[in-house]
Amino acid sequence: MNWEHPSPAARPRVFVTRELPSIGMQKILDSCEATVWPNRLPPSRSELLEAVCGCAGLVTLLSDRIDAEVFDAAGSDLRVISNFAVGVNNIDLFEAKRRGIAVGNTPDVLTDATADIAIALLLAATRHLKPASDEVCEGRWKTWEPTGWLGCDLVGRTIGIVSLGRIGAAVAKRLAGGWGMKVLYTARSDKSVEGLASCRRVDLNELLANSDFVSLHTDLNDQTRGMIGHRELAMMKPTAVLINTARGGVIDQDALADALANKRIFAAGLDVTDPEPLDHHHPLVGLPNCIILPHIASATTDTRNAMAEICADNLIAGIQGQPLRAAVS
Ligand code: DGY
Repeated sequence: MNWEHPSPAARPRVFVTRELPSIGMQKILDSCEATVWPNRLPPSRSELLEAVCGCAGLVTLLSDRIDAEVFDAAGSDLRVISNFAVGVNNIDLFEAKRRGIAVGNTPDVLTDATADIAIALLLAATRHLKPASDEVCEGRWKTWEPTGWLGCDLVGRTIGIVSLGRIGAAVAKRLAGGWGMKVLYTARSDKSVEGLASCRRVDLNELLANSDFVSLHTDLNDQTRGMIGHRELAMMKPTAVLINTARGGVIDQDALADALANKRIFAAGLDVTDPEPLDHHHPLVGLPNCIILPHIASATTDTRNAMAEICADNLIAGIQGQPLRAAVS
């Protein structure tokens, strides 16, 4: 396959690690000499290091590790990394800043889509949707039963939002408005969320002990890696449900598998794992009280188009030395 997009040599060279929705791709091709990785799977490390050589800008995905080795391989022309995600844990931000390389991401536009998936996971996990559907599809369902597939109600319960930011607030508003839930949250300071009548900031221990459902929305960094482990899971109610649409590394997955298998919490709904994909032999996979999605929270057509536009704008602005539309500070 010819994956070079020929264009005049004077234009800045960029490497795009995967084809983006066309609305963003077109903007990039209109102003850059772009090399677009043609495959569905990411470039290998050596392919990435080779492809970035001499580039002024890179468009990256959350599955591309971007660090000093990549910056070295790119060389001194590199001015901007435009990540096609709001999360930037795949990028060594310290090293980028030290070298004066701008980093852009795609905030805001994926807030609603991500909040919707958190709610979908909560409903799926509380009402056993995955194993119940499997029973039908695999021909194992025999009859309606008065005590079959009993789940838990949502109305009037308490949701705990770990790290209340844009997405956490959108989840809280949906659950408070639609299901009348009380909202507890963690954050560095008190927040007032428009459209959310009441919510209370607490520390993580209090949140875990008092929430019926816990939804994780924190960045993944050295402080948050493995923040939900054996100790934290033991603090949760035995009826609790844990939802993760943030990053897989925030949870100690072995501890979670143990808690779910031993019914120390009721269920979990995960859009993210570490690594992705999770080895299908991992004890979490196949547990009837754990639903795992392939990191699809932002996967709606409108959202991905909006992400692609911001991503292209960030790339082009960064190459031109202009402020990015969405810069990571
Ligand atoms: C993000 O943007 O960080 C999501 O995880 C993928 O859209």
